[in-house]
Amino acid sequence: MKILVTGGAGFIGGNYAIVMTERYPEDEIVVLDALTYAGNLETLAGIQDRPNFRFIKGDIRDRAFIFDLFEKENFDVVINFAAESHVDRSIENPGIFLETNVMGVQVLLDACRKYGVGRYHQVSTDEVYGDLPLDRPDLLFTEETPIHTSSPYSASKASADLLTLAYHRTFGLPVTVSRCSNNYGPYHFPEKLIPLMISRALADESLPVYGEGLNVRDWLYVTDHCNAIDLIVRKGRVGEVYNIGGHNERTNLEVVKTILKQLGKPESLIHFVKDRPGHDLRYAMDPTKIETELGWKPEYDFDTGIRKTIEWYLENKDWWQHILNGEYREYYDRMYKERQ
Ligand code: NAD
Ligand code: DAU
Repeated sequence: MKILVTGGAGFIGGNYAIVMTERYPEDEIVVLDALTYAGNLETLAGIQDRPNFRFIKGDIRDRAFIFDLFEKENFDVVINFAAESHVDRSIENPGIFLETNVMGVQVLLDACRKYGVGRYHQVSTDEVYGDLPLDRPDLLFTEETPIHTSSPYSASKASADLLTLAYHRTFGLPVTVSRCSNNYGPYHFPEKLIPLMISRALADESLPVYGEGLNVRDWLYVTDHCNAIDLIVRKGRVGEVYNIGGHNERTNLEVVKTILKQLGKPESLIHFVKDRPGHDLRYAMDPTKIETELGWKPEYDFDTGIRKTIEWYLENKDWWQHILNGEYREYYDRMYKERQ
């Protein structure tokens, strides 16, 4: 199979390309990425010489470029990881989220239609379901939970899901959609909670926890997400949505304290700051459908996965220290100054 992996220089797409180029030497994996602030070729350095791997720089919003590429390459499968992915940035500047996450998806869907791609897979998120109350641990998101978004980011991802499913219903395009909970693991950009806290704790800098730190996220180790997508693309039913999550709910404060404990750093580094506007309280996924239909099972629980992740950040300081440059500092100062 020839697989186009869009957004493959980012966190999850990069992990996907690393795992799948090794697992399927007979497949050809082409990564397409615009290399925004979140894309990083250093993530793909270890696989650049694999014979079944290729990187192409390009933007999913660029219709002429994408159509030209699809005409030349004849992809069997397209897996779309490309997105603006950070909720805080979507609050600061929603426009680019609509351009990439909605209009970019439309370009890919149109190209899949025109060139007869056998499967379009849209990588989506649990955030399309909105949030759950903190005092109802019995409630989980299922595939039937209504779409109910909170941030410009989640609204853009929900729009993309609806558009993808509409292309299936209206045009018969063979699509699948996966909605996953919060990922963590190697190559995670340090604007997100876990890598931000690891990198700042290692530098003995204060750790900005939003509100009271009681919001809950359902954490999944990134390769467990990649394995789920792989199963859906190969065995999933066309036109279906699959929820992915591993029942690893933690409050943000619990996550930060776990990181501090493993690094041997004091809890006095924790600094409570102004809350994120519209902050979702709790996410929790019911993955029964993918477990029973496709036999997916996560390999890592949170305690094992977070240990492995922290070890990776300790052993790969170059990767993340290269990111903590002027542009990143500017972002951090701008974003967190307002939260003091
Ligand atoms: P990321 O921000 O780390 O990576 C996104 C990648 O997309 C980057 O390499 C970036 O350069 C690329 N990109 C952005 N705009 C582009 C464009 N116009 N054309 C081509 N490439 C472009 O994001 P991530 O955390 O790896 O998330 C990947 C996907 O998974 C996203 O669609 C996100 O919504 C979804 N998702 C993420 C999580 C999570 O916890 N990180 C959980 C569920 C779903
Ligand atoms: O649930 C899946 C989603 O998970 C993905 O769709 C998004 O792309 C991904 O970014 C992530 O969204 P979150 O908003 O949950 O992730 P983030 O790492 O930004 O924040 C996790 C929690 O930690 C959230 O409750 C906000 C809080 N937080 C975050 C940061 C960056 C803090 O308390 N302090 C911080 O500095």
